[in-house]
Amino acid sequence: MVSYKELGLVNTKEMFAKAIKGGYAIPAFNFNNMEQLQAIIKAAAETKSPVILQVSKGARNYANQTLLQYMAQGAVEYAKELGWEKPQICLHLDHGDSFETCKSCVDFGFSSVMIDGSHLPYEENIALTKKVVEYAHAHDVTVEAELGVLAGVEDEVCAAESHYTKPEEVVDFATRTGCDSLAISIGTSHGAYKFTREQCTVDPQTGKLVPPPLAFDILDAIMEQLPGFPIVLHGSSSVPQEYVDIINQYGGKLPDAVGIPEEQLRKASESTVCKINIDSDSRLAFTAAVRKVFAENPGEFDPRKYCGPARDLMTELYKHKIINVLGSNGKAE
Ligand code: G3H
Ligand code: 13P
Ligand code: ZN
Repeated sequence: MVSYKELGLVNTKEMFAKAIKGGYAIPAFNFNNMEQLQAIIKAAAETKSPVILQVSKGARNYANQTLLQYMAQGAVEYAKELGWEKPQICLHLDHGDSFETCKSCVDFGFSSVMIDGSHLPYEENIALTKKVVEYAHAHDVTVEAELGVLAGVEDEVCAAESHYTKPEEVVDFATRTGCDSLAISIGTSHGAYKFTREQCTVDPQTGKLVPPPLAFDILDAIMEQLPGFPIVLHGSSSVPQEYVDIINQYGGKLPDAVGIPEEQLRKASESTVCKINIDSDSRLAFTAAVRKVFAENPGEFDPRKYCGPARDLMTELYKHKIINVLGSNGKAE
């Protein structure tokens, strides 16, 4: 058993309270490897932004649980080395799928866990979330829960809407589970294909796809029910066209990839949405940089020569998100 406090990490409690008061959001960036972690920490340290390092089940399998624990501890020390005296770094389990997974993360030094019971019947979601909350809170670990199902690209718009979080359920859910934050569904979704061509309109000037807006009316209704309660948005990559273009230019094939416009995320950040999850954009930046090096220099075989540029591009991306989209820069001086 390792407590996150021994690793120099923090839970989300204070981060979220300050973000809600200050009208900004905390970036939650997924990582699977050293280059992503370096880029996240460098961006957070240089902008003095609190940050959430997210680890999915896939990432835990990929990177090894023990190694992850030391990587998180190393991240705190690296941040200090970069001149960030008091790093505010949270290590969070993304989309925890069972009590056992959440418990294992609490026991291995995570400072926050998500239990994703959104696919379960309502009462089962409550029971599972409550069980995780009881264990996590006993170790001062914060818990994110989810209510409502994120749309899949295969959904028709009407079907997707039927999965939106029901504002009339949120008070009962938050009260009975005791969760610290709630992930909601208002039209975001995971991956680089968030909307089908049919769900979008086409900008007549650029020919680019314009996605339908997020359901801010539902967010407003949720905030009315749970004033000041921390809300989380998953699936919040914007799928920057410049990365998609580089990937496609250098042999990739990502037709019609489309994400959430950054203006909408900026607007959400000013509300009680205090955690915004971004993974796909980092994958796109990584892939764009690597493809470019390979295409321009087919003889290259030193991974540092292509992972290095990928790391630089991800650092730039993370800083852009922090400064221009979430507004969390300077909030962890
Ligand atoms: O929400 C999903 C995250 O992007 C993590 O994805 O399960 O492929 O690691 P993953
Ligand atoms: P994206 O696929 O939009 O980056 O979402 C990531 C996410 O929600 C991780 O939980
Ligand atoms: Zn997610």
